Formats: sequence, C-alpha cells, structure tokens
Amino acid sequence: MFITKKMPKSLSAEAYRSLRTSIKFSSVDRPIKTLVVTSSIMGEGKSTVAGNIANILSQDGARVLMIDCDLRKPSVHYNFFITNGEGLTDVLVGNSDLKSVIKKVDDSLFLITAGTVPPNPSEILGSHGMKDLLEELAVNFDYIILDTPPVLPVTDALLLAAKADGTLIVVKSRVTKEKMVKETYDKLIDVRANVIGTVLNGCDKSIDNKYYGYYGDFKKHKEKKFKIKRK
Ligand SMILES: Nc1ncnc2c1ncn2[C@@H]1O[C@H](COP(=O)(O)OP(=O)(O)OP(=O)(O)O)[C@@H](O)[C@H]1O
Ligand SMILES: [Mg+2]
Repeated sequence: MFITKKMPKSLSAEAYRSLRTSIKFSSVDRPIKTLVVTSSIMGEGKSTVAGNIANILSQDGARVLMIDCDLRKPSVHYNFFITNGEGLTDVLVGNSDLKSVIKKVDDSLFLITAGTVPPNPSEILGSHGMKDLLEELAVNFDYIILDTPPVLPVTDALLLAAKADGTLIVVKSRVTKEKMVKETYDKLIDVRANVIGTVLNGCDKSIDNKYYGYYGDFKKHKEKKFKIKRK
C-alpha cells in the first residue's frame, strides 16, 4: 500500500503533492504526459516513488496509467496487489490486445503490468511498437508513469527516457553516491532525455522536517530536487 493512499495527511504525502505540482509546472512548453521514473542502481525506490506519483496524480482527478517497464524484475503488480498475468510484453509481441491488459486499480488509476518476462527486454522497450503504443495511450490518459530498471547496469530506462516527455531520477538518501547520480544524469542527457528533477527517497524526518518537499534548483539546469521520507 502506498503512503499517498494509506496516509494522505502525512508529511510524505504532502511531499508527493508538492512533487505533483512541480511535475505539472516543470515544462511549460512541453507538458509532461509520459514520465519515466528511474535511478542509478537497484533498490533506490523507483517502483515505490513511481507508484506514489501515479496515486497522487490520480487523486487530483487525472486519468493516470502506470506501466511496469521493468521487464527484468517486474514488481509493480505486487505493490498494487494484483497478479502480473498478461501485460506490456504480450501486447508488444502481438499475443494480447491492448484493452485487455489495462487493469483498473482505482477510480482514475490504471495499470499495465510487465507481462511475460522476455529474453530481450531492451529490444522490446526500444522498439517502434513501444513508441507507437505510448502515443496511442497518450490519447486516453492524462499521465503515463513508466517504472523502469536502473540506468547504470542496463539501457532499458535510457531507451524509454528518450521517448518520454520527462524523466525523474530517484536518489536514495545516504546510499546513492554523487558520482552515480552524475553518471546517470549524463547518460540520460546523452539520449536527449528531458530530466525534470531528482527525488530524494528515504531521507531522515528529524533532519529534513524544515526542508520537506521541494527544496531548490539542481546545478545549472532547471531540474528540481524533491525529498520523500517514507514510502
Ligand atoms: N521511502 C521509503 N521508506 C521505506 N521503505 C522504502 C522507501 N522507498 C522504498 N522502500 C522499500 O525499499 C525496497 C526497494 O524499493 P523499490 O522496489 O521501490 O526500489 P526499486 O528502485 O524499484 O528497486 P529495483 O531496482 O529492484 O526495481 C522495497 O522493499 C520498498 O518497499
Ligand atoms: Mg523497481
């Protein structure tokens, strides 16, 4: 269960609301509809942050679709308490029809699970079929949130970030090294991803109370940093 749903009055949920506002206003010229959530390495909180973002956007009345694009280690279905079953890969290889894999998980929140784990995830995510699918889905949803594998070990997230309107980098408090974030950022910029900011996940409440939520500009670019305390 996501903190934004379970504890909507918590500081963490408030931080996510602040993040929601920042996502909405982050790109005036190019509104964010497809958003990639990624990070440098495994276990920094990508799926947790992506699920909370999907929830908080849908709580504002938007029609939101979350897609599990981590075809190597799908987990989004666990967080939403549904089975993986047929999903993204099955549609892309032509074994399932798109409508049948879109699962309704809340009033205006929908999910496409990863589906059958394929031998060639990068090829599938980098395909023209994936690009066409995102374009087709963008007609029916206000936001499409893509959960992805980490950037440093595999190219999957880069392939998606190149297609999406915006990308957020999740940074795990006291774990992710600055060098890794820089490397991740550079790789994303190399594929011309629109990196709209970083999310600091799992930071200490006692230290960060007075700073919770958005807290400033990120280097010379226009990305923002956001702090999230609990999942
Ligand atoms: N802010 C948080 N507070 C407490 N636990 C958290 C927080 N964020 C994530 N977690 C927990 O940390 C673990 C890893 O989180 P998550 O699966 O979201 O990371 P991930 O980056 O998607 O991992 P992977 O790279 O394996 O896909 C999970 O058990 C999750 O519940
Ligand atoms: Mg994950």
